[in-house]
Amino acid sequence: MRSVLPSKVSHILSPRLTVLVTTGREESNVMAVSWCTPVSHDPPLVLISVSPERYSYRLLKEHGEFGINIPHRDMVDVVFRAGTQSGSEIDKFEHLGLTPMKAKKIGVPLIKECVGFIECRVSDEFVTGDHVSFVGEVLSVYVMEEYFDERGITPDVLLYWRDSQRKDDVWWF
Ligand SMILES: Cc1cc2nc3c(=O)[nH]c(=O)nc-3n(C[C@H](O)[C@H](O)[C@H](O)COP(=O)(O)O)c2cc1C
Repeated sequence: MRSVLPSKVSHILSPRLTVLVTTGREESNVMAVSWCTPVSHDPPLVLISVSPERYSYRLLKEHGEFGINIPHRDMVDVVFRAGTQSGSEIDKFEHLGLTPMKAKKIGVPLIKECVGFIECRVSDEFVTGDHVSFVGEVLSVYVMEEYFDERGITPDVLLYWRDSQRKDDVWWF
């Protein structure tokens, strides 16, 4: 048996589905998030875990809303760059060539190039060690028709990342 440091547990619970989380309004931002999970059916809730060091954290606190944008696996470079550059220095929408798309129920822009969208209002937040967990009440969910089947989104378009967050540690079906 190989022993793993408890602090490396996230490396064992991976690869994980990776999404692009959008925050802010006129001043908006995009970040890569792998620590994202549904936590309740009724009411529908999802949780994202965000380090207070992120610029997105500031926008989450300020506006209390976020968009979960599910990228197509062809967007691997964009996702990696959204996860390694901070929006405190650059406009990531512009820098990554992403098109802002108006959401249905939140003021936060979504990403037109993505294949699925979840609009959330922060309903709870709590400190979880070196990250802060934001619980989002799910207000709206939609997926591009061509990537949807009767059981949900088609898994072969999705991107999964190992927690090392190295560029070559990305996986797909
Ligand atoms: C694949 C991948 C997954 C990531 N997942 C998370 C995450 O779940 N939570 C987090 O706080 N940071 C995560 N990050 C790091 C942030 O995306 C990264 O620090 C980003 O530059 C923050 O952008 P911002 O400062 O513009 O908000 C991840 C990075 C990568 C590459």
